[in-house]
Amino acid sequence: MTAPAWPFIPVPFGTPVVRSEGIYLYTKDGRRIIDAAGGAVITSVGHGRVEVAEATAKAMTDMTYACPPFPTPQRDALVDRLVERWLPKNLKRVWLASGGSEAVDGAMRLARHYQYLSGRHAKTKILYRDISYHGATLATLGISGHPGRRTGLEDMWVDQPAVPAPYPLRYAGDEPDMGKAYADAIEEVILAEGPDTVCALVAEAMTGSSGGAIVPPEGYWARVQEICKRHNVVLIIDEVMTGFGRTGTKFACDWAGITPDIMISGKSLACGYAPIVGVFASDEIVAPLNKGNTALMFYTYGGAVGPCAAALSVLDIMEREKLVERVAMMEGVMERALAPLRQHAHVAEVRGRGMLWGIEIVKDRATLEPFPMSANLTMGIINKGLSDGVYFYPAGTGQVRDVIVLGPPYITTEAEIEEIVAVLKTSIDFAVAKAMAH
Ligand SMILES: Cc1ncc(COP(=O)(O)O)c(C=O)c1O
Repeated sequence: MTAPAWPFIPVPFGTPVVRSEGIYLYTKDGRRIIDAAGGAVITSVGHGRVEVAEATAKAMTDMTYACPPFPTPQRDALVDRLVERWLPKNLKRVWLASGGSEAVDGAMRLARHYQYLSGRHAKTKILYRDISYHGATLATLGISGHPGRRTGLEDMWVDQPAVPAPYPLRYAGDEPDMGKAYADAIEEVILAEGPDTVCALVAEAMTGSSGGAIVPPEGYWARVQEICKRHNVVLIIDEVMTGFGRTGTKFACDWAGITPDIMISGKSLACGYAPIVGVFASDEIVAPLNKGNTALMFYTYGGAVGPCAAALSVLDIMEREKLVERVAMMEGVMERALAPLRQHAHVAEVRGRGMLWGIEIVKDRATLEPFPMSANLTMGIINKGLSDGVYFYPAGTGQVRDVIVLGPPYITTEAEIEEIVAVLKTSIDFAVAKAMAH
């Protein structure tokens, strides 16, 4: 049999999706699937919002394209809105890309330019956490603790020093203050590498799909920030998945008490209607570039007309319908609906925040032994969910498994959450029974 031309992955999801509306995907063979994954945890305001399509069409009719150094009304309007109403107060500078990997790559370059142009030429290393995903470009794979995605390409990416990621389920430790212990482990790496050689630390405020919605322990971020300041390490916070409301505040930085030097965010910004992700930085980080007359080289599509208009329209909806507040309210709804799964014989942990939740499934709850890779449990759950009308997000890194992530649209109702969780339970039972017989 000839393989299909698209995609280059071994697990295409069968039936084509031909339409989407609200929280639903509609397939060519007439089925309706709840998008409990929000696509790839991107769908914030929901599918099929005609006003977003109309705003984008109008902008693209008025104007096709101008090279990124030109101001355009669409980009100016979006940048003003972001700075005035959305971004953490210290982040006043905006640079736009078309996707998360591209944006993280830009943030890495920005941190390096900042250190170099400030005269700290040896500060070149970018620390990353050992459970993480920051993108699929060769630069971002080098800072991704994701063996499943970078294995086989080792000679192509530049490995950077890794620090331990908080993972309280598997490493609760015996220190009284685990937040401090995890943070101090970062300082140990900085000292071992030599503080004069460390440019930046990149991390998600709350680990998204690589770990499966892992919330850091109390006190962790306060201490990490202290350490970064002490050693003049740029703090790059990746909110590609968590930003623009997903965890119940505008950014996870808000509840985590983080003042990032650079923040990247975007999935929920344009909700999948158009490709746009931002790199947001403080004046202090950008200032040396101006002095050195060094541009952070743009991408041709960075801040293009259509994506800027789509993003602004999505922000209009989020503000008008108070969707960030709604996500905060839905946190309790999701927690209550998922709570019974905590008693499940094969569920090791249910964790999350806002409308980003992870359910970790193990072979043995007492020892936390996972199912073998060959059992392919995660995909067993996903496929059963799909056949029962719900799409869940497969999380983990290969080494970290098996984790199902829920990231439904912000407009999902309580009854729909209950329906999602009922199908999740059936899907786990089905796939676990199959894996036990494996
Ligand atoms: C935290 C994080 N950073 C970066 C990326 C890469 O984004 P993209 O797939 O748009 O390149 C992702 C994608 O899921 C992500 O979750």
